[in-house]
Amino acid sequence: MKNITLTAIALAALMQTALSAGKCGTQTCSSTTPCCVGGYCNSNAQYCMPILCEAANSYSPSSCWNTAHCVKSNVVFGAANSFAQIADYDGNPAHAAFVSQFEPSNAKLNNGQMEMTLVKQGNGNGFGATVINTRAIQYGTVTAVMRSGCNSGGVVSSMIIRNDQIGDEIDFEFVGADKATVQSNYYWHNQLDYTKMIKSPALSDTTQNFHTYQIQWTPDQIVWLVDGAAFRTVKRSDTWDPSVNAFKFPDSESYVSFGIWDGGSGAQGTADWAGGAINWSKQPFVAAVKSQQQH
Ligand SMILES: *[C@@H]1O[C@H](CO)[C@@H](O)[C@H](O)[C@H]1NC(C)=O
Repeated sequence: MKNITLTAIALAALMQTALSAGKCGTQTCSSTTPCCVGGYCNSNAQYCMPILCEAANSYSPSSCWNTAHCVKSNVVFGAANSFAQIADYDGNPAHAAFVSQFEPSNAKLNNGQMEMTLVKQGNGNGFGATVINTRAIQYGTVTAVMRSGCNSGGVVSSMIIRNDQIGDEIDFEFVGADKATVQSNYYWHNQLDYTKMIKSPALSDTTQNFHTYQIQWTPDQIVWLVDGAAFRTVKRSDTWDPSVNAFKFPDSESYVSFGIWDGGSGAQGTADWAGGAINWSKQPFVAAVKSQQQH
């Protein structure tokens, strides 16, 4: 009797697993539309890229495309295979180092650089772009030659190393409120702690001039540099939090991305940080990246 009960429970558990696998919001992903994102199933890069795909909600746990791991790389935007629109991406990182995540896409190659534009939508808010690396990175040095697009308060540009699922992040962020510095920040497990932001020393106008931004990420520390000069170091050993028994240090495999977005239409705290509502007469807002290296 006992055995039968256990078997029944095991069977029920098994059925539960079978039923919950592939439950994508109100949809159930199938073998032809296997990948789940935000309650929808499909088979293309917008759904199957590992950075976006929800493995647990997809047709099977292996439906999402495999994570491509970091290789030493020097991406010169404009060169073959440096960039693709996500609808054109076939899942092979050798075919595109970076893809523009959203549609309609406001990112494109132009004049030997990758340009991301923030445009005004019908509702008055800005819609920008996010351009993500097709390979993941876990420790390494990431260098980008870029210019922000923050010609007005409210516009935010960024270079981010982030694991979206875990909420680890290391970033450079530019805000229209201050064109003379870049902000460094990091997050651990999505814990929002805005006290950790530190600004770079004064730079020549970051919206007019290209600078070289670098993050050196090792198991022991993170160093932020601009134009070869380090201005901040966070040591893992200094992030120990006894209340959670953990180092609050970003250490999960992550993706490099570049972006531009409207911070001025967000929550009050975000809008204040970004410099208030966007003044659209200062358009265009174009962030540009010439190159990106990883090693
Ligand atoms: C918006 O920008 C324009 C052009 O720089 C300027 O003349 C105008 O005063 C600005 N408007 C506001 C509300 O700041």
